[in-house]
Amino acid sequence: MLRLVCNLGYICEIINKSREMKLKALISLPSLIKVLFLSGAVFMASCEKYAYLIETVNPDEPVLFQTQIQPIFTNNCITCHKGARNPDLREGNSYASLTEGGYVTQPAESSKLYKKLLEGSHASFTIDIEKQLILTWIKQGAQDN
Ligand code: HEC
Repeated sequence: MLRLVCNLGYICEIINKSREMKLKALISLPSLIKVLFLSGAVFMASCEKYAYLIETVNPDEPVLFQTQIQPIFTNNCITCHKGARNPDLREGNSYASLTEGGYVTQPAESSKLYKKLLEGSHASFTIDIEKQLILTWIKQGAQDN
């Protein structure tokens, strides 16, 4: 009888141990998920910061018409603005069309070109960074550079 109680006690001890281990496993699984989630959040936050840094135009750096502005027109505008519709935004014609047509006046925020970029369906023809580039280019005096 004594031996049986002893044995039972031993078995109980084993059961308790394994319960304890299971409990530990249960505790450590959520904490593992937490760690993964946190590191994921940190990773994503750093990505966001990186994207934000890229998406900003430095106002002190000259924005170049030929290599930065004309490609925006060529990629997004000339399906419609190819001569018959003002302004003519095709390469070679765009600069004269914009300056002579009075589209790039100061203050840049109220210029016809920039205001159009924010208006109605035209707002979807450029992304934010392109709008910023065009605004900065006009602010810097709309040079043919
Ligand atoms: C799907 C055709 C289409 C595309 C693409 C398009 N436009 Fe236009 N745009 C028009 C039409 C139509 C008008 C005239 C009606 C109006 O003012 O909305 C116009 C008018 C304008 C005007 C005003 C002209 C004036 O004399 O008042 C500007 C400035 C302009 N567009 C710039 C752009 C720029 C810059 C892009 C590219 C980022 C662009 N458009 C892309 C169709 C288009």
